[in-house]
Amino acid sequence: MNALTTQHDDGIAVVTIDLPGAQVNTVTAGLRAEFAELFTQLAGDSSVKGVVILSGKADTWLAGADIDEFLTLHSAADGEALSRGGQALLDKLETLAIPVVAAIHGACLGGGLETALACRYRIATDHPKTVLALPEVQLGLIPGAGGTQRLPRLIGLQRALDMILTSRTVRAKKAWQMGLVDELVHPAILREVAIDRARKLAAGTLVARHAPKDRGATGRLLEDNPIGRSIVFRKAREGVTEKTHGHYPAPLAALRAVQAGYENRDAGYREEARAFGEMTVSEVSRELIFLFFATTALKRDPGVAEPAPQPQPITTLGVIGAGFMGAGIASVAVQQGTAVRLKDTDTARVGKGIAAVSDVLGERVKKKQVTRTQYDNQLSLVGGTTTYAGFRRAELVIEAVFEDLALKHRVLREAEPMLHANTVFASNTSTIPIARIAEAAARPNRVLGMHFFSPVHKMPLLEVIVTPATDKDATVTAVAFGKRLGKTVIVVNDAPGFYTTRTLSAYMNEAGRLLDDGASVEAIDAALLDFGFPVGPITLLDEVGIDIGGKVGVVLSEAFGARMAPSESLRRVVESGRTGRKGRHGFYLYGDDGGKGAVDTTIYELLPNGAPRREIDASEISQRCVLAMVNEAVRCLEEGVLRSARDGDVGAVFGIGFPPFRGGPFRYVDSVGAVAIVEALEQLDGRFPGRFTPADLLLEHARARRRFHPARGAPVS
Ligand code: NAI
Repeated sequence: MNALTTQHDDGIAVVTIDLPGAQVNTVTAGLRAEFAELFTQLAGDSSVKGVVILSGKADTWLAGADIDEFLTLHSAADGEALSRGGQALLDKLETLAIPVVAAIHGACLGGGLETALACRYRIATDHPKTVLALPEVQLGLIPGAGGTQRLPRLIGLQRALDMILTSRTVRAKKAWQMGLVDELVHPAILREVAIDRARKLAAGTLVARHAPKDRGATGRLLEDNPIGRSIVFRKAREGVTEKTHGHYPAPLAALRAVQAGYENRDAGYREEARAFGEMTVSEVSRELIFLFFATTALKRDPGVAEPAPQPQPITTLGVIGAGFMGAGIASVAVQQGTAVRLKDTDTARVGKGIAAVSDVLGERVKKKQVTRTQYDNQLSLVGGTTTYAGFRRAELVIEAVFEDLALKHRVLREAEPMLHANTVFASNTSTIPIARIAEAAARPNRVLGMHFFSPVHKMPLLEVIVTPATDKDATVTAVAFGKRLGKTVIVVNDAPGFYTTRTLSAYMNEAGRLLDDGASVEAIDAALLDFGFPVGPITLLDEVGIDIGGKVGVVLSEAFGARMAPSESLRRVVESGRTGRKGRHGFYLYGDDGGKGAVDTTIYELLPNGAPRREIDASEISQRCVLAMVNEAVRCLEEGVLRSARDGDVGAVFGIGFPPFRGGPFRYVDSVGAVAIVEALEQLDGRFPGRFTPADLLLEHARARRRFHPARGAPVS
């Protein structure tokens, strides 16, 4: 079956892209071959005066590359050839004598947008599903079919760099304002208008635009001469380096390709293909593509072994505790049309919770992501209460009261009789084992954990925690609801700290021990930033709350013994009453507006070695913290807390900031080699007995030279 079908409308060929059997259109090898044949045919058919390209899919026009194909590339030369092929194909499209109109409804991404760019004219539907982007750098790649060359010419250098370097997704209206599309129409008339424009372009009564529109005087001044452009490129390069700490080569490669295009056309295309080839075999793209496949696989994963029961649809969500997390959860639920009953102990707290929901929703109005009416509708879905009124209707209840077992027991005992027997009761605890919470339940089979991360509306991960007693249908219901909220969901088995809190604690504890040993706060944070974490561990402690860190430390050291005992430094700082950013009193100084300043050097007076700090090598700092985390992650897999290495990688990257370009702790072990990791751990264990004893599973992998993932980023299922 073909992906392309052509109908003729009085001299206009209307081509519909509809990949058979696929949910979305992607640029497969088959589609490219069909396009090549079509362009040849069109070039030789004088009865055709113009062409319109439409999509047969509901929500996509053409959603970019077929990423599986990248896994078949074994060398940079393979990648370069793929890019050359794509460039030649779209060159053929661009140089057709007859006008081609891209009639875009739905996602127009990557190779899809590159195809649209090679058309003479672009019409997009003014519809929320119509979005345009060149997201290649997110996969460690660059646009490889002329995107780095055509986009700057169409919309101007600065706007193009912004889109290419940040993978920014542009909505239809914005795309029209910036000149990325020529016209906006209602979906109902897309086809009709596109045919009309093709006809007019053919007749010469409509002329396609050739220069970027509305760049303003400064834009023109900077972009239209070599000196101005060199300033733009320098600034862009500096911006990228600052953001990526040099860990992501793709944005810089894309910059070079764009820049080469200003020397001359051939140089630009040559550099684009060369760099694309180089990126396809880079370690970074391998890891980012792995994460892409892993998250895609998780979208299909019901969270339990097949056969999986059907999830219960959630029409009403009960949230107990309208604090920071409770309000955050409510704010994402109403955005998906779920009614929320938000309960707290008094009306003032309920009011504060609803105000926090309103802030999150209001932010979306400011960013023009939703209209005022949508905001009103969403906010009207939250109902506040100090009783359990309305909870009977809730299919799911999430408890987010203070992290205190006795309180959680009380709340569970109080709530359960007010709920339907089938209601799933979830705790958002970050550390307390779910089985312990469920001890207070009359229906422990309906109890599980839903561990959201803060801030809930921004953090992509949800960790669902199940006990041996949890019903399968309760698990799939929680997982399906998490997905509906747009989260990537991993399911883990119950244990203290689950997966994310436990591995993060191992890492943070080691940072604390480095303080015990005399390292400075700056040195520790800088070393881990350099490794690729988004913030250093001491900054993170200030952010999370030093008091919270202290409490987690107690729970985990009770569970795991000396290995997880909090550092002396942390113990002393907790005792001092400093809480971190929220109390404007932590390891760093904070302004009245909460802005972070330099290290508060008075903190050293509290620490074991006092004010004099000694130099500890950055590589030792990062090795100790990272290996403590990695070793703990492997233990979680060994003990069956994790269902797979894949979940461990995704959980660490999306939940606790493990550097995406390293793929996750298990991918990290695979890339360094289990043998080398074990050696390093054993050396550290010699220096700090008992703290770095390699996990048995790591030893096994080292002995058998085994990996956690198949070599060369094969698709994960
Ligand atoms: P919070 O202190 O902001 O909110 C807790 C809320 O629970 C308060 O509004 C309090 O009035 C309310 N509450 C207490 N007793 C109640 C009762 N009997 N009925 C109804 N409401 C009651 O705390 P936060 O930060 O929202 O944490 C809540 C839970 O989420 C904790 O278990 C915490 O460990 C967990 N968590 C927190 C994260 C964070 O970054 N803050 C991240 C992930 C989980």
